[in-house]
Amino acid sequence: MCGIIGILGSHEVAPLLVESLKRLEYRGYDSAGIATVNEGRLDRRRAVGKLVNLSDVLVHDPLPGHAGIGHTRWATHGVPAERNAHPHRAGRVSVVHNGIIENFRELRAWLADRGLVQESDTDTETVALLANLFLSEGASPEEAVEMTLQRLHGAYALLFIFEGEEDLLIAARKGSPLAIGHGDGEMFVGSDAIALAPFTSRITYLEEGDWAVVTRAGARIKDGAGRLANRPAKTIQIESAQVDKAGHRHFMAKEIAEQPSRLTTALNHYLAEDGTFRLPGQGLDFRAMDRLTMVACGTASYACLVAKYWFEQIAGLPVDVDVASEFRYREPPIPPRTAALFVSQSGETADTLAALRYCRDKAATILSVVNVAESSIARESDLALPILAGPEIGVASTKAFSCQLVVLALLALEAGRQRGHMDEATHAERLAALRSIPGLVNHALGLSEASDRVAAKLAEARDILFLGRGRMYPLALEGALKLKEISYIHAEAYASGELKHGPIALVDKSVPVIVMAPHDELFDKTVSNMQEVMARGGQVLLVTDREGANVAAHGVWEMLVLPDVAALWAPILYAVPAQLLAYHTAIAKGTDVDQPRNLAKSVTVE
Ligand code: AGP
Repeated sequence: MCGIIGILGSHEVAPLLVESLKRLEYRGYDSAGIATVNEGRLDRRRAVGKLVNLSDVLVHDPLPGHAGIGHTRWATHGVPAERNAHPHRAGRVSVVHNGIIENFRELRAWLADRGLVQESDTDTETVALLANLFLSEGASPEEAVEMTLQRLHGAYALLFIFEGEEDLLIAARKGSPLAIGHGDGEMFVGSDAIALAPFTSRITYLEEGDWAVVTRAGARIKDGAGRLANRPAKTIQIESAQVDKAGHRHFMAKEIAEQPSRLTTALNHYLAEDGTFRLPGQGLDFRAMDRLTMVACGTASYACLVAKYWFEQIAGLPVDVDVASEFRYREPPIPPRTAALFVSQSGETADTLAALRYCRDKAATILSVVNVAESSIARESDLALPILAGPEIGVASTKAFSCQLVVLALLALEAGRQRGHMDEATHAERLAALRSIPGLVNHALGLSEASDRVAAKLAEARDILFLGRGRMYPLALEGALKLKEISYIHAEAYASGELKHGPIALVDKSVPVIVMAPHDELFDKTVSNMQEVMARGGQVLLVTDREGANVAAHGVWEMLVLPDVAALWAPILYAVPAQLLAYHTAIAKGTDVDQPRNLAKSVTVE
């Protein structure tokens, strides 16, 4: 999604704005721009494509000023073009925006009736025109913004600056996050703490509906009802080291490699020395639950699908899993003893947040598993469980996925123990097996070279299929998503048993079929499915363990062999080859691994 930064500084802000936007690149974008107020004069520079293009513009046409705003745009309304790039401007007002103004067409018509016509195709320019209209009718900047906000429907994080106002930023948050950074005689506003990290660690998070009048002296915050609101400033440590590549070629490579340590951190956070599961707050009573509803998007939804097998098999707890964009529109009944669990790396995904709000006054309890502890989803949960993966910059989720799985596995074990669905010995055995996962993941990272070799062939494919059975089926879904989102090759996943019900018609010698299959209780059935594929010329890449390789190597095109792992936890380990195959195939294709086309790291619009 779009990235926003605003600075009331004591030095030239243009280079600082661009530096901050570089820290927001991971959110995905297709154009960028900044605006400043200098000696009362409001001006802007914008460019299509990567930030280097904006920097080139600024070299040839500098933009002075100690107050300014900046934006990286992920196009929603209007194609990626300079005229649609932010900041937008109307008269004395310039604005940057993350989100969607859902009633912008009515507002645009209302303005056109008054002779105020837009230059761009965007909903954001409508906001600038409105604020400038109210200014021209005698309102102060604060009054003009308040009157504008009252007319907006939809989601927004907005930042305004004004001609003639060198010590004023006005920020507003509804549905998209915004943070205020407190400097020494300087003030900052940004999409998240990562954007503000170069300047300050003293952060105030705006709450839903808040808007803030910011000067170098500080921020005056009002809530959605216009009442003064006291939002505490916190010290948020986002070490710069956490947001650089640490010598890796891509953030994705770094984040794949970080998994052993991040998984260990997550396990140690929730497990006491004696294996007791530690939960924040009042903990959780799984005996009070008759059902668990899990909701997420994309990769996070596949983590939920894996967890469904775990909760049902080891805790006897029925689980429903929904993709968030469908969930609330189904109007699902939420029976009284139902818990709702939301999984989200960013904690800001609009669909998942909306699903949480649908459940808020229906579910017995609202749980979340998130990577950003201060995120909207975390803040609106009864109990938020951090996955402690550290900032995940690559758009393709890797370490967050495996850390989500580990936290969900711990929850499922705790549920099984509380509900008496397994004896202490089984619980101890499964917990010991889970604790061994980081070491096995570290071993699996050694498959990078083999994955690179295989990727050279995958990169030539037009279509690729992934197969998995049981708890490995969601892993096949994740493998297909990883591959398609960064290599742009069409990839689909099927439950292995489903292939013969139609999809096998896709199989011929041009189609690689990647089979995710440890030698578990379903392996023999998977071998049968593999034979069906190979009998039709399909090229099988078998991802398995030593026993599986011994049994099923004959006739396969390629094989990746992983260390042995408890079948229950295999999806966590098998995520690594899925990530490595996607990563190396994308490199072979020459795509943008960390910022793949059309994608954003956090989808904060519906
Ligand atoms: C995963 O690689 C994708 N980037 C995407 O599917 C992502 O998992 C999804 O948008 C959910 O994001 P969230 O976990 O931040 O809610």
